[in-house]
Amino acid sequence: MHINCINKEMLKDKKIIVGITGSIAAYKAAYIIRGLVKKGAEVQVVITPSGKEFITPLTLSTLSSNPVISEFFSNRDGTWNSHVDLGLWADAMLVAPATASTIGKMSNGVADNMLITTYLSCKAPVFIAPAMDLDMFAHPATQQNLDKLRSFGNYIIEPTEGELASHLVGKGRMEEPDMIIHRLDTFFASQNDLQKKKILITAGPTYEKIDPVRFIGNYSSGKMGFALAEVCAQRGADVILLSGPVALTASHPNIRRINVESAEEMYQVAISSFPETDAAILCAAVADYRPAAASLEKIKRESEGEVTLRLIPNKDIAASLGAMKKENQKLVGFALETNNELAYAKAKLEKKNLDFIVLNSLSEPGAGFRVDTNKITILDNTGRTTGYPVKSKQEVALDIVDKLVDLLK
Ligand code: PMT
Repeated sequence: MHINCINKEMLKDKKIIVGITGSIAAYKAAYIIRGLVKKGAEVQVVITPSGKEFITPLTLSTLSSNPVISEFFSNRDGTWNSHVDLGLWADAMLVAPATASTIGKMSNGVADNMLITTYLSCKAPVFIAPAMDLDMFAHPATQQNLDKLRSFGNYIIEPTEGELASHLVGKGRMEEPDMIIHRLDTFFASQNDLQKKKILITAGPTYEKIDPVRFIGNYSSGKMGFALAEVCAQRGADVILLSGPVALTASHPNIRRINVESAEEMYQVAISSFPETDAAILCAAVADYRPAAASLEKIKRESEGEVTLRLIPNKDIAASLGAMKKENQKLVGFALETNNELAYAKAKLEKKNLDFIVLNSLSEPGAGFRVDTNKITILDNTGRTTGYPVKSKQEVALDIVDKLVDLLK
């Protein structure tokens, strides 16, 4: 299949490390390298010892016009191959094909070959295209390793279903070269599509104080909101990340993080920041209620009797921003539901005056709180509803931000 690229120039002069490992799909790496070079990219191949059993360095060096790197130093003249320099040189690293063994080493930092040391030194985005037998791919060990790589911010290019080298049929075939090149193309094309835009993102839970040692909270880890912040920042936006208490770090220099604890604190910062932004994505799981009065001292257990906690409503941040939204501003909300999902999400979309709402349901496996994946449905204010499969939160963030970029155009 031939895929037209978004912009012919996107891969021009990009420096790309192509890592090749020991899989029958290694022959496809030759097409990837040829495609990247045709688009003007500079390619440096790093191959594992078993990769060389499947495709010759001569083929790869001819296609890339660069010597292929495999060993830490040259046996001929003792020249040292610096994985650190290579890691810093690259605009992107692509490991295709990535075997289960290499994926395991990458996720655990087992630096016993040049490809892994280069990966560990690489500051650029890393794309990984797995290739293996269906049972190896489905095994929890492989899936956990892939989840770990996703959590490092690496992009997994999912394998497709089809006939495998074993003649079994299932998921494990490395994605086709044209599609892999297209993935890199879209990545670079989207890198700056939010330049000069300012985006407010809320993330994580809120804690509503009961007394100095107790609070009402929820299970939000902040993963979804932080993934959105990273994606917006990578695409050039200045991001205000308004976060409840979470154990995550936001690494991108375009992200200004403001930590808050309660819904009221989040409300105050959101209201004062929103007017200077182009859009807000409200991903935080904000408590709808808080204790009417937080005790200044620890509440003691006095007797065996019941205790009643009186709760009062918090302000609705999304609805308040919806009311103050200007024509050129966009507002994206989330709906976390357990039942009657579409109807509840649609009601929130309308009530809070959102441009679109991202529905995720706790009744769907792999969706919602804490996990590294999510399964979303986007409902917009033109009546369109779009469902997506289970994806990593990072990939879900890309889908959400793609939709926002379309609206901001
Ligand atoms: O953090 P993770 O572990 O990765 O989990 C991600 C998530 C499940 C928390 C996230 O994907 C999500 O669904 N966030 C919204 C959770 C929520 O509070 O949903 P809701 O249906 O109760 O709220 C609807 C919308 O109104 C949300 O955009 C919410 O941020 C907003 N809201 C709610 C109450 C309030 N007082 N102010 C608000 O702005």
